[in-house]
Amino acid sequence: MDTSIVILAAGQGKRMNSALPKVLQPLAGRPLLQHVIDCSRDIGAHDICVVYGHGGDEVRQCFADEEVRWALQAEQLGTGHAVQQAMAETPENNRVLVLYGDVPLLRSETLITLFEGCGEDDVGVLTVETEEPFGYGRIVRENGQVRKSVEERDANEVEKAITEINTGVICAPARRMKSWLARLNNDNSQGEYYLTDVLGMAVSDGVAVHGIKADNQEEVMGINDKKQLAEAERALQKRLVEALQAEGVTFADPARVDIRGHLKCGRDVFIDVNAIFEGDVSLGDNTRIESNNLIRNSEIGAGTVIHSNCHIEDSKTGEACEVGPFSRLRPGAELANRVKIGNFVEVKKSRIADGSKVNHLSYIGDTVIGTGVNIGAGTITCNYDGANKHQTNIGDNVFVGSGVELVAPIDIGAGATIGAGSTISKSAPAGELTLERAKQVTIPGWKPPVKKK
Ligand code: UD1
Ligand code: CA
Repeated sequence: MDTSIVILAAGQGKRMNSALPKVLQPLAGRPLLQHVIDCSRDIGAHDICVVYGHGGDEVRQCFADEEVRWALQAEQLGTGHAVQQAMAETPENNRVLVLYGDVPLLRSETLITLFEGCGEDDVGVLTVETEEPFGYGRIVRENGQVRKSVEERDANEVEKAITEINTGVICAPARRMKSWLARLNNDNSQGEYYLTDVLGMAVSDGVAVHGIKADNQEEVMGINDKKQLAEAERALQKRLVEALQAEGVTFADPARVDIRGHLKCGRDVFIDVNAIFEGDVSLGDNTRIESNNLIRNSEIGAGTVIHSNCHIEDSKTGEACEVGPFSRLRPGAELANRVKIGNFVEVKKSRIADGSKVNHLSYIGDTVIGTGVNIGAGTITCNYDGANKHQTNIGDNVFVGSGVELVAPIDIGAGATIGAGSTISKSAPAGELTLERAKQVTIPGWKPPVKKK
């Protein structure tokens, strides 16, 4: 039986106190709703319908690349009303599973357990035991069988004492769901059409309702404010780190790392404190990431060490490189093997071949550097003339002295040496020493100026 997933995401999320709609708030670098869509895909659902309302256009634009259906709920009249908006185009013979845009930690394994626990023609509701049931719908059972779910505000004292709560996640055959939703009323303390009333209707129609308990509350936690968002962030980070630990990655402190995207690690990777990984990052075997690094959409080759305090974006390093401390690799920096990039060096859109070194205080932009090159401290490629960017090419085994400006476009031939302090604006031949310096003079008897009274 195919599954149609309905994701409720029309609420405003007032308690976020933010201009950004609730379901777009980032969790581990991705919008809350993205996590729910990804989880839906993980269970193999093809038909996904998002019920939207508040922040409508912004939400739709953010997911323009996702193949999902959108159903507008112009007025938020309750969770049952919300699901109804999605039903018109939901195939009759599918099973419907209702998820929430603000419950992002739910795992696909748990949904599979829910499906396994109930027949295709039955109703399943995901529940959880909690010591703090306040505010949630309570699951009322008789002889162990689910009879209904009662909202906090509609519950009597006996019901309020129940510790099994409704997570909101419900599945049912689409055909039946449609007929129950059509019969909902808003005759309750909040004047809303409650999705949860479907459970009671199923019971009166003689349809089995299975209450399946989730293992932990964390996974089904709804996010309403920034405090809960931060709690969910920590919980998810813990989950991501534990998965990597199981693969053998060593974290100096699992609580002090942030993975905002996908981090792929080889064997024997070591990650020190306060490393932030964004987007798609891969770390080869035996890489070592020291403290306070930001690495975004980059590939770090085997055996490479990223020393402390680097900022690395859209870049690649080969094997056994050393980067940092305090280096910046900007988009298009590509280091081959055994390259060294030292402190206060910025590299942008440049390829640096095997064994070359840029160790101190340099800017290398729009440059191709050959093998075995040494770039002296404080060397700058002057790639920008105020209007256009120009290319610098530096051949194999070139030695550039300290404090050199290379004014692009320019070629430095293989094996050339460039004298320290030169401003080189014409290409330099291979194998020769080229330098450009004013003649050094000493002014005899020169006196420093004296401060006027
Ligand atoms: C709901 C359940 C409650 C359950 C709790 C779990 C109902 C009546 N109650 O309560 O039993 O314990 O979730 O967290 O279902 N939404 C819409 N349109 C609406 C109303 C809500 O899209 O008209 C969306 C919200 O954006 C949110 C979700 O549905 O993502 C849940 O709505 P919310 O108002 O938070 O329901 P609760 O009162 O928490
Ligand atoms: Ca809620």
